[in-house]
Amino acid sequence: MTAPTPLIAGNWKMNGVAASLAEALATAAGLGETTTRVAICPPATLTDRAAAALKDTKVLVGGQDCRAETSGAFTGDVSAAMLADAGASLVILGHSERRAGYGETDALVAAKTSAALTAGLEPIVCVGETLDERKAGKALQIVTGQVRGSLPAELAGKAFSVAYEPVWAIGTGLTPSTAEIEEVHVAIRATLVEMFGDHGKTPAILYGGSVKPSNAAEILHAAEVGGALVGGASLKAEDFLAIIRAL
Ligand code: PGA
Repeated sequence: MTAPTPLIAGNWKMNGVAASLAEALATAAGLGETTTRVAICPPATLTDRAAAALKDTKVLVGGQDCRAETSGAFTGDVSAAMLADAGASLVILGHSERRAGYGETDALVAAKTSAALTAGLEPIVCVGETLDERKAGKALQIVTGQVRGSLPAELAGKAFSVAYEPVWAIGTGLTPSTAEIEEVHVAIRATLVEMFGDHGKTPAILYGGSVKPSNAAEILHAAEVGGALVGGASLKAEDFLAIIRAL
């Protein structure tokens, strides 16, 4: 069984217009010989332009969400096949901003993950506890429950990753201690192996939540951390490259 291939993915969230692609290109230009997989997930309006601009580079393009259905009367939504058609090869699913802001349940995230696989996209499935849940001593229970509920059985043997993003660490500048990150990542790995057997050993488990150049090396070298999902710091090539180089 091969070791997880590290992945550093940038989640631009609702940021970015055509001019912002210069940052994506600067990231690509600065990658050098890195063997780390690097992805940028711009807003859906930029998917095809990002994919075209980054076509001959090592930077992959991802979506930030997709609808579980393949087509239909779902005003404003985007299907997995549309993202793939626009040039995406990955998609973030179950981000806490979607779970909290749009009431996305584990079951819905699992359905979206199945849709992503059908469209040939590699899912990055996000999980993470709130501060109240952590204070109540429930972080491991919540996160492993989300992993069980959000990952459909057909992921076995497919390329995917799980991103552990404590809700209270996203965009706040706060990060868990290395020991706290390791505790959760080890629990996620055990759950993946329980669910998928040997196939559970290969997916990278990313950490996300206030990753920046100054804390990246410590976080990325923690046990079972196979990369990062980076929000704010992925918008500037200089910061994003510093994080990639810290791996
Ligand atoms: P942040 O966001 O790096 O800005 O905290 C991470 C994320 O939400 O994926």
